[in-house]
Amino acid sequence: MNRKDLEEVCQEIGIDSELLINSVNRISKHLRVNTLRINEQQFEELLRFTELSVKRVNFLKHPVYEVLKGRPGNTFLHTFGFVFSQSLSSMLPVFILKPEEKSCVLDICAAPGAKTTLCAELMKNTGAIIAVEQNKKRMEALVSNLRRMGMLNVCCWHKDATQINPKPIFDHVIVDPPCSSLGVSSGYKIFSKRAMKKLTKKQKLLLNVGWEFLKPNGTLVYSTCTLTYAENEKLIEEFVKDKGAAIEEIDTSKFPGSRKGLDGLGIRLIPWEFKSEGFFIALLRKEG
Ligand SMILES: C[S@@+](CC[C@H](N)C(=O)[O-])C[C@H]1O[C@@H](n2cnc3c(N)ncnc32)[C@H](O)[C@@H]1O
Repeated sequence: MNRKDLEEVCQEIGIDSELLINSVNRISKHLRVNTLRINEQQFEELLRFTELSVKRVNFLKHPVYEVLKGRPGNTFLHTFGFVFSQSLSSMLPVFILKPEEKSCVLDICAAPGAKTTLCAELMKNTGAIIAVEQNKKRMEALVSNLRRMGMLNVCCWHKDATQINPKPIFDHVIVDPPCSSLGVSSGYKIFSKRAMKKLTKKQKLLLNVGWEFLKPNGTLVYSTCTLTYAENEKLIEEFVKDKGAAIEEIDTSKFPGSRKGLDGLGIRLIPWEFKSEGFFIALLRKEG
């Protein structure tokens, strides 16, 4: 870990680095019910055949639970694709995007498919999702998750998204690029400003590519599991200025524990406030 670099970025965003390190090491686990397979009541009945103990996340309509005891991945609920283990923070970009049934969605950094599968579920297996992933091993995990969860509206493309000739044909685009991962358990251990700068270049490139695929009036959700200013608000602010994109307001009161991003852009999920991974999310609209 480069302690000096970590201190500097934490200072820039006004958070305590010790608090960050302690809290990302104690993040709650969550799962969501795959409502294409079972409903909330069936899930709660099936729970007694497992050793899981869970608590409903009440502010979401979708059945999402905090895992208090046990490992969902070791249960038949996981094997049958009845549930998906995912951090609560990682679900929010899709709940904020709200893809409609029969819409056309592009997910350009898709594996292992946590957001793709939730998107497919909200779209009730209708419409089309193109899930692009450049890493072969991660692509395999994506395909396996899609099969397990019974997603029928996703087409996977093993490809570098920056090498596709973009056409503005999608209603929604998800850009969830690689990041410095300061919001997740081991991110701080490998953090350096040098690596962050390289990632920021890649994030800008992927955001630009995603934008080119978006139809007029379409929406794009950008998310990272990191908390640095450079990879989040700064990047979005520059992008919005450059492209004339509209930034959509996200109502933080719908997600207790979340806060507005710096300069009022997007939303920030701070691990010890939101009780899940550290995330940044921004929703952009292409003016029609
Ligand atoms: C943060 S992870 C995505 C997590 C995923 N959205 C989810 O919710 O499960 C970023 C992914 O982007 C992929 N990636 C990076 N550069 C890419 C590119 N140029 N084209 C396509 N995928 C890329 C990485 O291999 C990695 O799997």
